[in-house]
Amino acid sequence: MTPQNERTGHGGRSQAAGLWCEHTPYNGLGPTEGPRAMITPSQQQEQTAAILTRSVKARQRVIDHGEVFTPPQLVRDMLDLVHHECERIDSRFLEPACGDGNFLAEVLRRKLLTVDKRNAQNRDKWERDAILAASSLYGIDLLPDNVAECRQRLLDVICDAHLGKFKAPLPDQAASAVAYILSKNVVQGDALSFQNSEDQPIVFPEWSPVNGNMLKRRDFAYDHLLEQAHVASTPLFSDLGKDVYLPTPVGEFPPCHYLNVPDAEAALGGS
Ligand SMILES: C[S@@+](CC[C@H](N)C(=O)[O-])C[C@H]1O[C@@H](n2cnc3c(N)ncnc32)[C@H](O)[C@@H]1O
Repeated sequence: MTPQNERTGHGGRSQAAGLWCEHTPYNGLGPTEGPRAMITPSQQQEQTAAILTRSVKARQRVIDHGEVFTPPQLVRDMLDLVHHECERIDSRFLEPACGDGNFLAEVLRRKLLTVDKRNAQNRDKWERDAILAASSLYGIDLLPDNVAECRQRLLDVICDAHLGKFKAPLPDQAASAVAYILSKNVVQGDALSFQNSEDQPIVFPEWSPVNGNMLKRRDFAYDHLLEQAHVASTPLFSDLGKDVYLPTPVGEFPPCHYLNVPDAEAALGGS
């Protein structure tokens, strides 16, 4: 199991934001009656300070990169606003300054509840759907350590869920497929310039299920997707022959079994 992260409180409820006062530091976001009245101003200050302490890694990183992490309860409150999307295994999420993946990890946990419900007994299908869930999550961050932590954290969420459900570790081949997908979906780069750490355009793969157990990968340039975002509200498929939003892929791979995704690129001579 993943150990609880002292700074972010990953894996459990924040101690400072305890059961009865968890909303109080966020004026206007929490309940407007009840427990709030039980906290003195100095207690509230202490709680806020404790949450802020867990929300930063280092002062200089805050100054240089605005690195302040969103507290877990606030992440949950925000995702509750789009809870239907979080429950859909294939709905895509991009966290453009993802840090170590506070939002992506919680979205993944929620998607995995759906995976659990759909595949109560079938481990193969559970793995396939968990891989699909991972393939729907995207992140960008400037800092390499955050990118590495985010990828590892998402993989840990799946490993922990598998262990909890089947009382057995996620098989190596499935773990490798998840790790590979996350290495493509969570990238080091600048979400404002659309360039990766090698000054190349950020490219994201689209993973689409084909015929049950196959995955089809098509790569799209992030800036190209955004350029066309102004027409993204038009329907993808128009029965009336009107404008449609069809971005052009910059790469395309043959469909392959979901456990073999790393091999598709290697077969084409990629890295
Ligand atoms: C405010 S933290 C947010 C992290 C996470 N999204 C959360 O809510 O907990 C900001 C993160 O954005 C990253 N960042 C800052 N500017 C960025 C940029 N132009 N492109 C990508 N990431 C950026 C920082 O490295 C840092 O990890």
